[in-house]
Amino acid sequence: MAVGIFDSGLGGLTVWSAVQARLPDVDFVYLADSAHTPYGVRTPDDIYELTCAATQKLFDSGCNLVVLACNTASAAALRRMQESWVPKDKRVLGVFVPLIEAMTERQWGDNSPPREVGVNHVALFATPATVSSRAFQRELAFRAIGVDVEAQACGGVVDAIEEGDMILAEALVRSHVDALKRKMPDPQAAILGCTHYPLMQDIFQAALGADVQVFSQANLVAESLADYLERHPAMIGEGAPGFLTTGDPQRVSSRATQFLRREMSFQAA
Ligand code: DGL
Repeated sequence: MAVGIFDSGLGGLTVWSAVQARLPDVDFVYLADSAHTPYGVRTPDDIYELTCAATQKLFDSGCNLVVLACNTASAAALRRMQESWVPKDKRVLGVFVPLIEAMTERQWGDNSPPREVGVNHVALFATPATVSSRAFQRELAFRAIGVDVEAQACGGVVDAIEEGDMILAEALVRSHVDALKRKMPDPQAAILGCTHYPLMQDIFQAALGADVQVFSQANLVAESLADYLERHPAMIGEGAPGFLTTGDPQRVSSRATQFLRREMSFQAA
């Protein structure tokens, strides 16, 4: 009974923690493509090829359903995968839509026309590839009108987090928030559009100010996955739970242990 969770590295563990807590009876196989992280500076074709290869490994380990706990893969590869690559008996889901539904005050599957929502000025923090895909703005435009989105590509943050250099990660977050505020001085809400960023959520919140509502994905994705599995129980496939990496298992285990503050043990994918 395993559902696959994929990220380019350790950021998807923020999603894994939330889904594991929400669905304690479901087993998960987590795959970190640590050998190729970061994805956020790669081309869409490259991200597509790497995401398909990683997702195939999760299918091969018995998963019927894979959650791309990576905004960059969700933005740059998911649609193309769903249209031309995912086998008929398998499913791949992304992390964008639950977040946008929460921000636009919608229930799952509400396909009514776009309407005005409570927030008008939204800051989006994401990787360079996610920002240039404009996937967030596209999904938002299906559901909301009158929302001004200012996107900030946060170069370097994922690399610093993967290296465990939290001092550098913090300095970069503060400078990216400053850059965003020069373009949009008073955002009402901020989206942490990369699954690594919740590891720096306090820094984002402090730099943005207490008045800014910060949306991060983990709990929203967990709720949405619980709802999906209730409607599609057959998607809980066979396979043992575990943590896989395409990188050095010892190194990745020690970083993951540092981030989650619990013993984590990765095996070679
Ligand atoms: N956690 C991935 C995301 O949500 C990081 C992407 C990267 O590897 O740059 O976008």
